Amino acid sequence: MKVARICFALLALAATSVASAREADTVSLQIQNDEPGAQISRQLFGQFAEHLGRGIYEGIWVGPDSSIPNTRGIRNDVVAALKELRVPNVRWPGGCFADEYHWRNGIGPIEQRPATLNPNWGGVIEPNTFGTHEFMDFVRQIGAEAYLSVNVGSGTPQEAADWLEYLTTDQPTALAKQRAANGHPEPFGISFLGLGNENWGCGGSMTPEHYVNLLKIFARYSRNYNAKHPMLKIAVGPDTADTSYTEAVMQAWKGRNWSWDIDGISLHFYTVGGWPPKYLATGFGEKEYAALLAETLRMDGLIRTHGAIMDKYDPEKKIALVVDEWGAWLAPTEGSKEGFLEQQNSQRDAIIAALNINIFARHAERVRMANIAQMVNVLQAMILTDQEKILLTPTYHVFRMYVPFQDATFLPIKLEAGEYVYGETSLPRLDAIAAKDKNDKMWLSITNLDPNRPVQVEVPALGAKRVRGEVLSAPRIDSVNTFASPKVVTPQPFNATAAKGKIIVKLPPHSIAVVAFEK
Ligand code: AHR
Repeated sequence: MKVARICFALLALAATSVASAREADTVSLQIQNDEPGAQISRQLFGQFAEHLGRGIYEGIWVGPDSSIPNTRGIRNDVVAALKELRVPNVRWPGGCFADEYHWRNGIGPIEQRPATLNPNWGGVIEPNTFGTHEFMDFVRQIGAEAYLSVNVGSGTPQEAADWLEYLTTDQPTALAKQRAANGHPEPFGISFLGLGNENWGCGGSMTPEHYVNLLKIFARYSRNYNAKHPMLKIAVGPDTADTSYTEAVMQAWKGRNWSWDIDGISLHFYTVGGWPPKYLATGFGEKEYAALLAETLRMDGLIRTHGAIMDKYDPEKKIALVVDEWGAWLAPTEGSKEGFLEQQNSQRDAIIAALNINIFARHAERVRMANIAQMVNVLQAMILTDQEKILLTPTYHVFRMYVPFQDATFLPIKLEAGEYVYGETSLPRLDAIAAKDKNDKMWLSITNLDPNRPVQVEVPALGAKRVRGEVLSAPRIDSVNTFASPKVVTPQPFNATAAKGKIIVKLPPHSIAVVAFEK
C-alpha cells in the first residue's frame, strides 16, 4: 500500500514536470529597426528545375494534348501554385543534365525532335519535348526570370555561343531567323547564365585550373546580345567545404583582363549527412530530426568560409555567392524509380527551408541568389504530383509565407532564446530574421526548432498596434501532406494586439511564424 502511494506520488510529479516543460515560457526579441542592413534579394528565393525524374515531365510539362488542364503543354495547376510564390528565377536544364545537354535537340517541331538519353538520372529516354521555347514559355507563365546553364562538360564554346545568339540577338542572323521560324521573332531576355555545373564532379571532374581555363573561354564567347535585358554570368564554385574552386576562380577573376568577366560563383550544399542519403523523409524520430537540423545549419559556416576567400579577392563584394543548389536530400520514396530522387516533404523540411533562407538573409551582402533543389517532384520540392493530382508541400508554404521578404531590407535582431538539446546535439532553440519592405512595413519570421516546447516571443511593438500573419505548425515533426490528406501541414492565421508596447508571438513546438507589424 505504502509502495503504491509512493509510486502514485512519483507519477504525479513526473506528470507535473512534463506539463511544465510543455508550457510556453517567454523569450524576448528586439528588432533593431534603426540599423538597416543589406537588401534581401528576391533572387534568394529562386528554384531549380532539372530534367530529372518527374521534375519536368509530368511535374511541369504534360503536353498540349494532355487531359490535365494546360497552357501550351504546361500544367495550369502547377503554374497557378508557383505564381503565388513569386518565383524570381528558375535554373534549367540542370544540374548534371546541363553538362550533357545539347540545346539544338530541344528546338523545332516537337515531332521531329530526337529522343536522347538521360544517363545521369535513371538512364531514361529524354524526349526533348521540353526545350528552350517551352522553358521560356514556362518562366513567362509563372512570372520568373530565366537562369540557363550552358554545357561546359561535354559541349563546346561554339555550341554555347550559338545558343546565346539564338536566344538573344535581334539581328537577322541565321540563328535569329531559326528562332523566329520556331515561333519567337523577338529576342528572349536571359537574366542569368551558369557557366557549367559541378565541373569538379559530374561536369567532367576537372581540376580547378582546367575549369578556370574553360571558364575564361566560355565567359568570353557566351555573349548576351539583348542590350535591353542584362545577363549575369555565374561560374562554378565550391562543392560544400572544398575551397579549391573558390580560390582558383576568385584568383582568376581578380587577375582578369578585358576579355572576360563573371558576376557570381556558385556554391552547392545539400542537407544530406553523407552519401548515399540515409535520412528518412517520414517516420523518423527526434534523433534524426536534431541531426538533420544540425547538418543544415552548416550552411552558415560554409558561407563564412567561402565568403572569407571571396573577401580576399573581392572586398567590395562585386561577385555574388550564388547557392544554386541547396535543400534536403533524403532517402528516396520506397518504390520510386532509381535515380528519380523522389522524396516526401515534412514539417522538418519546412524548418530546414526557413533556417536556410534565414542564413542567406543574414549574409545578404554576399549571398544574392539561391536556388532550392528542386521545384516539382524532385528532392525538397514545392509541389508533388501524381498524374492529375497535385499537393503543396510544407516547404511550399514556407516559400509563400516568406514572399514579403523578397527585396526587403534586412534588420538585425537581438534574441537570446537558449538551446534545444537532444543527446549530444545542441541547436539554437529559436531562429529569426526581420526586414522592412518597400512600404516600410516590418516583417518578422521566427522558427521554433524545439520539437517539444512551445514558446512565447515578446517583441517591442515599435509603434505597431498589432501583428498579423501566419503560423506553420504540424501535429508531428514528420507530418506530411499526402494526396489523400493534402492539408495536414497548412499555415494558419495569426493575430496579436500590442499591449503595453509589446507584442507576443506564440509558437507551437517545431513551427514557423511570419508576421507583419501593422500601425
Ligand atoms: O539536384 C540533383 C543533382 O545534384 C544535380 O544535378 C547536381 O548538380 C547535384 O549533384
